Amino acid sequence: FQPKLLAGRRVLMTAGPTFEALDPVRGLTNLSSGKMGFALARACVQAGAHVTLVSGPVSLPTPQGVTRIDVQSASQMHDAVFGALPGQDVFIGVAAVADYRPSQAAADKIKKSADTLTLELLRNPDILAAVAAQPDAPLCVGFAAESRNLDGYAQGKLQAKKLQLVVGNLVQDSIGRDSNAVVLYDAAGRHPLPPASKDDVAQRIVSHLAGLLK
Ligand code: C5P
Repeated sequence: FQPKLLAGRRVLMTAGPTFEALDPVRGLTNLSSGKMGFALARACVQAGAHVTLVSGPVSLPTPQGVTRIDVQSASQMHDAVFGALPGQDVFIGVAAVADYRPSQAAADKIKKSADTLTLELLRNPDILAAVAAQPDAPLCVGFAAESRNLDGYAQGKLQAKKLQLVVGNLVQDSIGRDSNAVVLYDAAGRHPLPPASKDDVAQRIVSHLAGLLK
């Protein structure tokens, strides 16, 4: 691994899940651990980059040399990303952002009464697509975590969100684990990586990404 692949580059990333509040003690979230995003942040620092990491709620220590901004909801993550965006060379969306949020968060704890309770959900902003749509967008990298048809969905995201690179994995290979088996998708095609630890996979992703930056 060449340590200076990203020397002087500025990298902005998201990682972890988001938490969409329902009331002061409850909310909607997902099983993302943040491990892949934090491994990638470490690999970017090792490659010489200045890294800003916008993280949802995770129980992981901040990697050395990383500027960390903690958020809860997708809306907060969106605002933190856009606040930090000017001057970035690369944006990597690793976070498992909730697609929907409750239409309102109750100020007080919701009490049980009726036998059924219907939640109304609103679509969240797509942070990665919004960044990639900026006129002076940085190089944008997305993740596709799928349970089937990885090639189809990952290549679809590359085009629909106007990304330069998509890292695809099957959720059954990845969620909560320390290892991962991923396939990289870019304009040149499909590049499977051998199964490895999330730290090794992160270094491979950084090498590929540095090649695209040149
Ligand atoms: O469309 P899908 O959610 O599967 O796309 C996943 C990619 O998009 C990931 O890189 C994720 O971080 C990003 N994303 C985002 N904002 C959303 C949804 C997904 O940045 N609201």
